Amino acid sequence: MKLDGVGAVVTGGGSGLGAATAEMLAAAGAKVTIFDMNEETGSAHAKKIGARFAKVNVTDTAAVAEALDAAQAENGVARVLVNCAGIVIGAKTVGRENKPHPLDQFRKVIEVNLIGTYNMISQFGARLGAAEPQGEERGVIVNTASIAAFDGQIGQAAYAASKGGVVGMTLPVARDLASLGIRVVTIAPGVFWTPMMESLPQEVQDSLGKATPFPSRLGKPEEYAQMVQSIIANPMLNGEVIRLDGAIRMGPR
Ligand SMILES: NC(=O)c1ccc[n+]([C@@H]2O[C@H](COP(=O)([O-])OP(=O)(O)OC[C@H]3O[C@@H](n4cnc5c(N)ncnc54)[C@H](O)[C@@H]3O)[C@@H](O)[C@H]2O)c1
Repeated sequence: MKLDGVGAVVTGGGSGLGAATAEMLAAAGAKVTIFDMNEETGSAHAKKIGARFAKVNVTDTAAVAEALDAAQAENGVARVLVNCAGIVIGAKTVGRENKPHPLDQFRKVIEVNLIGTYNMISQFGARLGAAEPQGEERGVIVNTASIAAFDGQIGQAAYAASKGGVVGMTLPVARDLASLGIRVVTIAPGVFWTPMMESLPQEVQDSLGKATPFPSRLGKPEEYAQMVQSIIANPMLNGEVIRLDGAIRMGPR
């Protein structure tokens, strides 16, 4: 699919992987709208790359509908959706002093990472499905899972479950949207250098970089964006989950 002049929405586009993706799409000529809860970083990044910003919580059905309508009014129907909004927590199923995992935290991670992603997909697809195709396809959706969906570590039950849900729905959603000419592909990143990672202690970051066989370092957000670009460009890529991880396989901790 050509990107020049095409409407695109990137959730979580104010930071990390989403920010690099929004920048790549804007540089390729797409009319980008960043959907992010963080107004400060989201609007600053949008300004820097010549994109629109919408303060949106991806779990909020009405807010997503309103922001998609506003993006469409200004930029035309969005043909590209990249779902990068996400949160991470660490908590064991049975924690210190034999306390059970706080269920509200488990629910929150599922709500943002899995249900938020699905909320974006269904509302984006509904609008795009009503638009004219561009050549043989109407558009592309890229989701962000994580290698935690496959190699979830100690303390990652909620995060791994949320990303496992994104992996599991990739094929059925691609099948659902096939008749509309909308492709769906999920990237499962390994360990990338973003603000999400910066919150971890330096020694943990270093050991994660070293644990990656090759290249033996953290991934760069631009490398994630490059993967998104390749997915958009290749019409045969659909219904698949792609690990982007330098061959790392996470151990239990
Ligand atoms: N960085 C990594 O190593 C890595 C690895 C695997 C998967 N991922 C996934 O990639 C995605 C992006 O991660 P990142 O490292 O760039 O994180 P990040 O924290 O730098 O960026 C996430 C962005 O999402 C936004 N956001 C969070 N909740 C939201 C909500 N409910 N509605 C709208 N926006 C919301 C935040 O404001 C932030 O701008 C996440 O889904 C994450 O789980 C990251």
